[in-house]
Amino acid sequence: MKISKICCIGAGYVGGPTMAVIAKMNPNIQVTIVDINEDRIAAWNDEDLSNLPIYEPGLAEIVKETRGKNLHFTTEINKAIDESEMIFISVNTPTKTYGKGKGMAADLKYVELCARNIAEVATTDKIVVEKSTLPVRTAKAIKSILHNTGSGVKFDILSNPEFLAEGTAIEDLLSPDRVLIGGESEEAIEALANIYGSWVSQDQILRTNVWSSELSKLTANAFLAQRISSINAISELCEKTEANVSEVAKAIGMDSRIGPKFLNASIGFGGSCFQKDILNLVYIARSYGLNEVADYWEQVITLNDHQKRRFSDNLISTLYNTVSGKKIAMLGWAFKKDTNDTRESAAIYVADHLLNEQANIAVYDPKVPSKKVYGDLDYLATRSEDENKELVETFDNPYDAIKDAHAVAIMTEWDEFKTYDWKKVYDLMKKPAFIFDGRNILNKDEMAEIGFEYSSIGK
Ligand code: NAD
Ligand code: UDX
Repeated sequence: MKISKICCIGAGYVGGPTMAVIAKMNPNIQVTIVDINEDRIAAWNDEDLSNLPIYEPGLAEIVKETRGKNLHFTTEINKAIDESEMIFISVNTPTKTYGKGKGMAADLKYVELCARNIAEVATTDKIVVEKSTLPVRTAKAIKSILHNTGSGVKFDILSNPEFLAEGTAIEDLLSPDRVLIGGESEEAIEALANIYGSWVSQDQILRTNVWSSELSKLTANAFLAQRISSINAISELCEKTEANVSEVAKAIGMDSRIGPKFLNASIGFGGSCFQKDILNLVYIARSYGLNEVADYWEQVITLNDHQKRRFSDNLISTLYNTVSGKKIAMLGWAFKKDTNDTRESAAIYVADHLLNEQANIAVYDPKVPSKKVYGDLDYLATRSEDENKELVETFDNPYDAIKDAHAVAIMTEWDEFKTYDWKKVYDLMKKPAFIFDGRNILNKDEMAEIGFEYSSIGK
């Protein structure tokens, strides 16, 4: 089966970059990305590519090359669904904030709405692809909704989870470690495999059953997050024993069975995926009565929360047990470098702890706009919006953020932080001048030589 028109529902961090790459690599396929969010679609269509809603290295260039040719962004959802042979569901699946499974289970309302939308408007046979990360056995619910329309339209359902990481999305999409396709219909699987086959070798395209594919995505994220919590647990022990976590990470990472990646100790992992997907895994395990399995994975989150709390507690105790009225400059608000995404960023929680102690926070991030910083803190609802405005200030220039600060906290490993004139930073700050390096990106000896009181994670 040859596909000539694709629709993707959801123009977010996954839908946008994934479809841009599919369009670039398949010039003969028309790719239309739809979304209910009019502002987001308008931003994707903005002439000025610096206004795209998502910042990813290399993304703007691909959008420039394909947009208006075979890549389109629109809010005309029904039309795009009906015209396409293949529909990707790439909408958000956040942790539920209400009802059964609140705080644990994935909220599938947006996915279900998509399935109902497809069922309602489709007049020709479709392949429906789950691109969102979904609990194992979600395809069953989607199938049930699609197959009960009575319209006679045939739907094949595939699971095709996305493994890209933000900040390296384009690189990850262009050279994936593997592409995973789960499904029942061989014809549908091969139709999707052909699309990826334009740039991915066939032996890197795994074909599995739907349930293995759905569960593999949750498992991959759980394993990756587990590595970070493992090294973060060791970082605390390093601080007590004068071992150095970077040296430990290097030593264990050279064991080919362990491998060197994902062993950077940090203030804790953030992002929209790890916590949500582990909570979901825990919820699923518990719902099958697998309490030991659930408890095991839950510890990954417990340790991560501990790491964030530990960072702010250490900052407060080092600053003579009070930060009240003191200016703390935070460098980085995004959950990692090279993205403007702040979802579940550790910076939000650390700032919240410090604000509870009446600190004044000055935030600088190269890509995160001021309104997002306030939006993240207001969303926590720990204090009023007016209080957040009063205690938090955002800056377009790092040196302005740092001026007269008692401490600098490095929250995100943006490359530009390494290139700052740290002597100048020292001169601008109150003395003693403290640096809390939450990402281990600066050189300890160099900082000490300038005069800083420098501390980093696990050293
Ligand atoms: P996102 O919030 O950036 O984008 C989702 C988009 O879907 C939003 O723009 C929203 O308006 C739109 N939407 C919601 N319901 C809709 C509907 N009924 N019709 C049309 N549009 C609708 O989310 P994301 O980060 O792109 O994540 C999407 C999915 O991919 C999630 O399941 C996530 O777990 C998974 N995932 C994310 C990443 C990542 O790095 N962000 C990586 C792999 C997988
Ligand atoms: C993750 C998965 O990597 C990706 O495969 C999946 O598709 C989506 O979830 P993402 O959350 O975008 O991607 O970024 P990732 O690079 O995994 O980083 C997640 C968090 O872990 C960030 O806060 C990062 O700073 C932190 N991290 C990562 C560490 O603290 N130490 C590390 O060694 C690696």
